[in-house]
Amino acid sequence: MFWRNRFLFNNHVSFLLFLALFGIGSTGAPIYKANYCPNNVSYQSNVTFETNLRVLLASLVSNVSQSDGYYNTAMGMGTTSVANGYLLCRGDVSSATCQDCITTAATEITRLCPNKTESITWYDECMLSFTNRYFAPTSIRPGATLSSDSNISASDLDSFNQTLFTLLNHLAEEAANTLTARKFATGNLEFAGSSPERTVYALAECMPSRTNRQCEECLKNAISTLPSCCGGKQGARALLAWCNVRYELFQFYNTRATSSGKKKSVSRVVLIVVAVVVSIILLFGEESATLESLQFGLVAIEAATKKFSPENKIGEGGFGVVYKIPTRAVN
Ligand SMILES: *[C@@H]1O[C@H](CO)[C@@H](O)[C@H](O)[C@H]1NC(C)=O
Ligand SMILES: *[C@@H]1O[C@H](CO)[C@@H](O)[C@H](O)[C@H]1NC(C)=O
Ligand SMILES: *[C@@H]1O[C@H](CO)[C@@H](O)[C@H](O)[C@H]1NC(C)=O
Ligand SMILES: *[C@@H]1O[C@H](CO)[C@@H](O)[C@H](O)[C@H]1NC(C)=O
Ligand SMILES: *[C@@H]1O[C@H](CO)[C@@H](O)[C@H](O)[C@H]1NC(C)=O
Ligand SMILES: *[C@@H]1O[C@H](CO)[C@@H](O)[C@H](O)[C@H]1NC(C)=O
Repeated sequence: MFWRNRFLFNNHVSFLLFLALFGIGSTGAPIYKANYCPNNVSYQSNVTFETNLRVLLASLVSNVSQSDGYYNTAMGMGTTSVANGYLLCRGDVSSATCQDCITTAATEITRLCPNKTESITWYDECMLSFTNRYFAPTSIRPGATLSSDSNISASDLDSFNQTLFTLLNHLAEEAANTLTARKFATGNLEFAGSSPERTVYALAECMPSRTNRQCEECLKNAISTLPSCCGGKQGARALLAWCNVRYELFQFYNTRATSSGKKKSVSRVVLIVVAVVVSIILLFGEESATLESLQFGLVAIEAATKKFSPENKIGEGGFGVVYKIPTRAVN
């Protein structure tokens, strides 16, 4: 009896922990979007630069997990053979997604753009860049714009356009002036039209190393490229070296993690705690216990969260894993 229960218990713990972790950290392959590969910066078999670049990219990949989703470093000395590298993951993706994206980008960037002294590659989830000089802080070059094929209907265009640029300009200011480590903002606004009211969702973010003013100017410049490239489109993005904006008619970002790193860690801990509590009930309850009988209200979860706080002895032994999960959120 004891062994049977113990077996059941362990099984449920692993299964539910797996669900809890997989549910949050699950990642598809990163989605490639655009690449900047200039034709006037090629080098011919420059061993020095090539070596610096290889070490640089490896270093960026190996530092993702210790970063908060952004990192920069440089390899080498001298003016032309130094390689400066930058990585930025979208402010709402998990650290696992961030790691996947940067790992992929680091391999792809030199395949997509071989033998160059600078390049940028943009994915849905992250961006990675290197250069042997510097990228101008607020310039729209280098940059890329992308838009969806679908158009906003002519009758909705005025309302949509006004709403969109109101939202984007607001997010640019918000991202530039956030008090959090990340210069990242998302939001949505409804627009009226002949069709039922719809909502436009948008995102603005900068490399956190930028000053507030540089960030805001970069974002405003990015936004200013949208009318000519993408006017009237249902979705578009402007991708620059230090900042980017995106909008869609669907929610393309996670809201759970956008406001603070703490929130995300807490939600992960809560999920894990729920998993553990469910498992414990399965252990002590009747063998015939069904999932339907396991209904948890918010109160129960809150109580459980306190019960399972790290200070509590219950975190020992088999539960050790619960507290080993990194709580540093990519944000
Ligand atoms: C490459 O050309 C672009 C303009 O086409 C220019 O802005 C940039 O400075 C050039 N890069 C180098 C390294 O000369
Ligand atoms: C190649 O490397 C040398 C240093 O070994 C440097 O002086 C030169 O400018 C580099 N060329 C390019 C195109 O990076
Ligand atoms: C890049 O340089 C290597 C030598 O370092 C050469 O073998 C290769 O053909 C070059 N590739 C391109 C696309 O120029
Ligand atoms: C980044 O990774 C390299 C190894 O590639 C390591 O030597 C370095 O200490 C790391 N930097 C930080 C800040 O962790
Ligand atoms: C959107 O409008 C453009 C002209 O502005 C047209 O060429 C294109 O085919 C339209 N796209 C769709 C999906 O209807
Ligand atoms: C939408 O608004 C922007 C900024 O206010 C403007 O530049 C653009 O021309 C407008 N586009 C359309 C299609 O009305």
